[in-house]
Amino acid sequence: MMNDATSPRRPHGRDDPLMQPLTVGGLTLPNRVVMAPLTRSRAGQPGDVPTEMNAQYYAQRAGAGLIVSEGTVVSDVARGFAWTPGIYTSEQVSGWRLVTDSVHDAGGRIFCQLWHCGRVSHESLHPGKPTVAPSSMPATGAMAFIVGDDGKGVRQPASQPQALTNEGIAATIADFRAAARNAAEAGFDGVEIHAANGYLLHQFLASNANVRTDDFGGPVANRVRLLKMVTQAVLEVWPSSRVGVRVSPLFTGNGMRDAIPEETFVAVAEMLSGRGLAYLHVADSGVMLPGGEPHMEDILEFMRGRFDGPMMLCGGYDGPRARAALEAHDADLVAFGRHYISNPDLAERLSAGAALNPPDPRTFYGGGRAGYTDYPTLN
Ligand code: FNR
Repeated sequence: MMNDATSPRRPHGRDDPLMQPLTVGGLTLPNRVVMAPLTRSRAGQPGDVPTEMNAQYYAQRAGAGLIVSEGTVVSDVARGFAWTPGIYTSEQVSGWRLVTDSVHDAGGRIFCQLWHCGRVSHESLHPGKPTVAPSSMPATGAMAFIVGDDGKGVRQPASQPQALTNEGIAATIADFRAAARNAAEAGFDGVEIHAANGYLLHQFLASNANVRTDDFGGPVANRVRLLKMVTQAVLEVWPSSRVGVRVSPLFTGNGMRDAIPEETFVAVAEMLSGRGLAYLHVADSGVMLPGGEPHMEDILEFMRGRFDGPMMLCGGYDGPRARAALEAHDADLVAFGRHYISNPDLAERLSAGAALNPPDPRTFYGGGRAGYTDYPTLN
């Protein structure tokens, strides 16, 4: 019998950097393979409530060291995509309880990604309530995903937003705090604050989307303020070691064009340091865009060493690239998006050096079990 070191199916054996455990907030993650947050637009209707089908999908992926849930909206105006789950009603909390119980029964761990889309939204998703943003400027080129006349999902240009008032900002922070509390009640192991991909918290960070002249706009210390206050609000509910934050410093989708991203995101990393957070999740989300090339090296050039806790990297990773990032100490954890859509047993496959199923983008958003719970496992 071949030993681990020479078996072609186990190219890394016990020394595989992807398969080393990591303790985060008293949780033992058995490996460094994270399921990235993935919106699948399959929440139960009415009410955008997680269902047994969603619970099955997540439980199938419980072999991940950590699962980060799909973006989960903190209020109705936070929604920018049809059929995305929320965490602001008691029905949604009960629905998420199905999911967290199933993941835990299958031996996994799951954080809830707290999401506010801000101006990447459409008024039909929250009738009677305006879309909100730092400033009343639409997200050029951004598309919301709404329910069309035929009941099917359709992409629509994002609505003209209204600038959040001071009361609106306070209410938004309160929504994040309440959502964090609901996530605890729903049985999540922690939360991830979504400050990436051009959504509300990123809009406040980005100089081109935030032209406010109050304490929340202008110099970088002001643009970072909302994320700081949201983080503090979440830390009133959760121990810091169970709270992660996701950023995407060089993302230019959804109308993001920060003048000096290096300055903005170093300030973010420094603001988040010293708090004992679970991790900083740095996403190279441009790889999702058509023709998108990886830019993680460019991001790391200014982000490396700026945050004092575990670093999670995401964007275009496969097994070899993930191992290299771990070995170089650029990453403590690596998140996989599209590979997790199509490989429920991704951690096991990476460990075994097995081939990966290709994902089918036609079933990414909306629909039922097809392309959701029916991707094959090795066994
Ligand atoms: C995403 N991504 C994403 N990111 C996020 O922070 N919250 C979310 O809800 C989603 N939803 C989502 C849905 C789908 C269908 C895709 C493909 C992507 C981005 C995702 O987490 C990841 O950053 C990218 O997919 C890039 O990583 P991969 O796929 O190259 O590993």
